[in-house]
Amino acid sequence: MRSVGFLVILSLWVGAFETHCKSCHGMERQLHIFMHRYTLKYSSKERIQKAMFEYMKNPQASNSIMPLGFITRWGVKKPTTLSDKALKEAIEEYYHRYNLSKVWQ
Ligand code: HEC
Repeated sequence: MRSVGFLVILSLWVGAFETHCKSCHGMERQLHIFMHRYTLKYSSKERIQKAMFEYMKNPQASNSIMPLGFITRWGVKKPTTLSDKALKEAIEEYYHRYNLSKVWQ
């Protein structure tokens, strides 16, 4: 249990996104591309976050925002093992850091 406590503290300190997502998503450019495509399709913060949440829970080629060529080449990711709370925090932080509103202002 000590390690769980440590992980909680670590994720509060470095942020849920760093802890749960960055191990696979080290490529800044790709994170911008994902956010860009979600924004084009879903527009509002609420709809973007909801769509991401649902995708992470159950990734399918049919609900991916990436082109079929990308999915055929790389496959879809595995469903998340995070709790709903941790996943929401990570997505909130991802949105906060990468959303496009700064570009539009
Ligand atoms: C185990 C590795 C791994 C982890 C951890 C991971 N991802 Fe991913 N993610 C991938 C891969 C591989 C893809 C590309 C395939 C795909 O789109 O399903 C992807 C795709 C995505 C996409 C594009 C989805 C789409 O519509 O195709 C988003 C957004 C995303 N990840 C966000 C996150 C967030 C937020 C986290 C942390 C909660 C996270 N990922 C954690 C491997 C990972």
